[in-house]
Amino acid sequence: MSRATSVAPKMVGWEKNCISLEEAFNKPIAPMGIMSDVNPDLSLLSSKSMPANIASAVPGEPIAVLGTQRRLAEIVELIHTASLLHDDVIDHAETRRGMPSANVFSGNKLSILAGDYMLGRASVYLARLRHPEVIELMAEVISELVKGELFQLQNTSTDYHSPEYLKKSLDYYLQKTYLKSASLISKSCRSAAVLGGATPEVAEAAYIYGKHMGLAFQLIDDVLDYTGSNEEIGKPANADLELGLATAPVFYAWEEFPELGPMIARKFSEPGDALKARELVHCSNGIQKTRDLAQNFCNIAKDAIQIFPDTEARAGLEEVLNKVLTRKK
Ligand code: FPP
Ligand code: MG
Ligand code: MG
Repeated sequence: MSRATSVAPKMVGWEKNCISLEEAFNKPIAPMGIMSDVNPDLSLLSSKSMPANIASAVPGEPIAVLGTQRRLAEIVELIHTASLLHDDVIDHAETRRGMPSANVFSGNKLSILAGDYMLGRASVYLARLRHPEVIELMAEVISELVKGELFQLQNTSTDYHSPEYLKKSLDYYLQKTYLKSASLISKSCRSAAVLGGATPEVAEAAYIYGKHMGLAFQLIDDVLDYTGSNEEIGKPANADLELGLATAPVFYAWEEFPELGPMIARKFSEPGDALKARELVHCSNGIQKTRDLAQNFCNIAKDAIQIFPDTEARAGLEEVLNKVLTRKK
C-alpha cells in the first residue's frame, strides 16, 4: 500500500456513495471550456526539465512527467478555475473563453459554491502529495490570489499631485499583478521542480521563469482589454476602466496626460471618465510601454531557464514566452 493511501481516512457507509457536486444539481455548473489554460501546461513543461524526469527518460522517447507532477498540474487547474469562477461573480462578467460565464449559466450562488468545492478538492489532492514544501507553496498561492483581489479593490494613495504617485502606483500595480496572476504560475513551476528533485538553484530558476512569465501574461491581458474586441478575447473587452481599474497602459498614459491623475484616483467614477481615459490611453504611448515591459519580463524569464538542460521541454517554455507576447486572446 502506498504512503498516500495508508493515511487517508477510510470511507464508510454513506460517504462511499457520496454524489458529485454536478450530480447534486443534475446539470453542469459551467459550460464546457471553463477549464484548461496556460497554467497547467507550464507546470508540466517545467516538470520535464527536472533531474528525476530526465534520469527516468527512456532513450528515444519523449521525457515523461511523474505522477506527482501530473497531479500538481490538476491541482493548478482546480485552483485557477476556482479563482475564475469567483472572479466572474466579482466582476459581473457575462462571458469567459467565448462562452457564457458560469455566473450567467448557473447564477452567483452555484459559481461561488463550485469554486469553493474545487478549492476543497485541490486541498485534498495537495495533502495527498505528502510533500510539505509543495503543500506550503500551493496553500500560499490560494491566500495570495485573495490578497491580489483585495489589493485591486483599493488605490495606493489619492495624492495624485505628488511626483512619487506614478512610481508608487506602478509598484503597487506590479505587486498586485504578482499576487493575482504570477503567484500561481511561479509557485507551481517551483513546485514541479521540487517534485522533480531539482537543486535549489534550478527550483529558483523555475520560480523566476514563472514569475516573469506570469507578470508578462497579465500585462498583455491588460493591453488586450484596450485593443481587443469581445469576440477576439472571448470575454468582455474595455472592461477594466468600467470596473474602476487602472492598469499599466493608463498609468503610463498618465505621464503624458496629467489630467488622468484625478480620474485614476476616483476610479473613473464620474460620467464620461472611462470613455475619456480610454481615448487618452490610445493617444499616448501607454500601450507600447506596457508591451515593452512585458518583453523585458519575458527576457528575464528566458535567461533564467538557460540553467535547464537543452531539451524540447526548455524550447517549449521559450515558445510559451513568444506566445504570451503575440497572443490576441
Ligand atoms: C482574473 O483577473 C482573476 C484572477 C487572476 C484571480 C481572482 C482571484 C479571486 C477572485 C480570489 C479568490 C481566489 C480563489 C482561489 C477562489 P481579471 O478579472 O483581471 O481577468 P479576466 O479579464 O480574465 O476576468
Ligand atoms: Mg475578471
Ligand atoms: Mg477581476
